[in-house]
Amino acid sequence: MKYTRILLKLSGESLMGDKAFGIDNDRLASYASQIKEIQDGGVQVAIVIGGGNIFRGVQAEQGGMDRTHGDYMGMLATMINSMALQAALESKGVQTRLQSAIEMKEISEPFVRRKAVRHLEKGRVVIFGAGTGNPYFTTDSAASLRAIEINAEVILKGTRVDGIYSEDPEKNPEARKFDEISFDDVYGKGLKVMDMTAFTLCKENDLPIIVFDMDTPGTLKKVVSGEQIGTLVRN
Ligand code: GTP
Repeated sequence: MKYTRILLKLSGESLMGDKAFGIDNDRLASYASQIKEIQDGGVQVAIVIGGGNIFRGVQAEQGGMDRTHGDYMGMLATMINSMALQAALESKGVQTRLQSAIEMKEISEPFVRRKAVRHLEKGRVVIFGAGTGNPYFTTDSAASLRAIEINAEVILKGTRVDGIYSEDPEKNPEARKFDEISFDDVYGKGLKVMDMTAFTLCKENDLPIIVFDMDTPGTLKKVVSGEQIGTLVRN
């Protein structure tokens, strides 16, 4: 394996599979199997998962709800997904620890950086729930922040597409996929990888991002093995 410690960012929306809402059990099991595969390969794995399949903070604002209120609801949604993923991993025999950015001690450990690192060293998959614990941040920001805090070598951003394209490949079939691109070029070309807060955090801390297709089983292992797959963003 090319990497020793990674942070995997999963999308909540992808967890829906073909459903309109909530969690698709097959998709969940598929994610758990892929994670187990790389963990068995000796990679230390930390995970941040979004909550968009359950609730999105921005959608609350459109409905007239206070943005901060909606963001907290979104953070709780990530806890539901984190707990589902934790259960799916444990059912496959993977040891896990869940740490929440918002204290909810009956169901999760609080986020303690040093403890998270110890868990990783002991071979446990660590899931970070409840985003950063603050409104106005996304789970991409949480992923960047946690990755930097635990000294992960890379953020692996699992999506439905297999990388970053020059244009939206669904709209323009001529769109070109980048194997590698710099942070500056992503910005200069106006491409979207993560929101700007998350993106700048990675750039300034020299943390590379690999965007790849998480929905095709086996891809995660290839990425972690160092195969040229997906798109690598770095300084
Ligand atoms: P080591 O001491 O490094 O072996 O880690 P450990 O996680 O096994 O030890 P600990 O005794 O801290 O935790 C045992 C179990 O309790 C684990 O499943 C933890 O996730 C869980 N746990 C620890 N702290 C909390 C907490 O504040 N709330 C909840 N709900 N569970 C916790």
